[in-house]
Amino acid sequence: MNGCVRSDLCPMRMIVAGNWKMNKDSAEATALIAALKVLSVPEGVEVIVAPAFPFLAAAVDQLAGSSILVAAQDCHEKSHGAYTGAVSVPMLKSVGVKACIVGHSERRQYFGETDKVVGLKIAALLEHGLTPIYCCGESQEERVGGRHFEVVTNQLKTALGALNSEQLSRVVIAYEPVWAIGTGLTATSEQAQEMHAHIRELLSAHGSEVAKRVPILYGGSCKPDNAAELFANRDVNGGLIGGASLDAPQFGELIRLAGQA
Ligand code: PGA
Repeated sequence: MNGCVRSDLCPMRMIVAGNWKMNKDSAEATALIAALKVLSVPEGVEVIVAPAFPFLAAAVDQLAGSSILVAAQDCHEKSHGAYTGAVSVPMLKSVGVKACIVGHSERRQYFGETDKVVGLKIAALLEHGLTPIYCCGESQEERVGGRHFEVVTNQLKTALGALNSEQLSRVVIAYEPVWAIGTGLTATSEQAQEMHAHIRELLSAHGSEVAKRVPILYGGSCKPDNAAELFANRDVNGGLIGGASLDAPQFGELIRLAGQA
């Protein structure tokens, strides 16, 4: 399992990924990683942490020898050039980052990121051998209007539609209903499972092997008190965790629960 993000050799497994967002300074990041490093990771569970850009290289160094992998929270679609403030995939790769979250709803809301751009970022990540963790999910209004399946279908088609089966099999998908992120509202176990099954069905257009291989994580106020139920669903392969990933005991409990699923 060590160092293995969605390689062909990996069996289907649970992933617990922590999205730290714009939290933790240098000393706090070091302390949190030190606390995570000593957690026991059950067989079959892959743990990923996504600190902010300034701390990625230090996180990779600090986690050397552990099975925890480091992801970035965003990347630019171009390899290099005059894009002030941006960070490219080769830059991430050069410091040992293995995966990258793309299309998070906060990137969409506050930075105007569209599925078209996200598709380019995914292509860049795959080209350089990093694992994209692609976030999709409907807003509250879209859920209330009964359009959630349609919205997620369109997101996936736009962002992932150009990938061939081999490329698609290296993607991790995170279903994150926007109304559940950081709100304390969580999708019910049934709501999560039916959307995950829908996403799996869309993936099966590329063959049953691809559909089986792509992990689909749930994200949105996933915490120790609701994770067991969410993780128990057939099509839920772990979680993308925001708030609860900032606290080592809570994140550790989520890792333990993933091991029991
Ligand atoms: P949350 O965030 O767990 O704080 O709701 C999840 C996410 O945004 O990835």
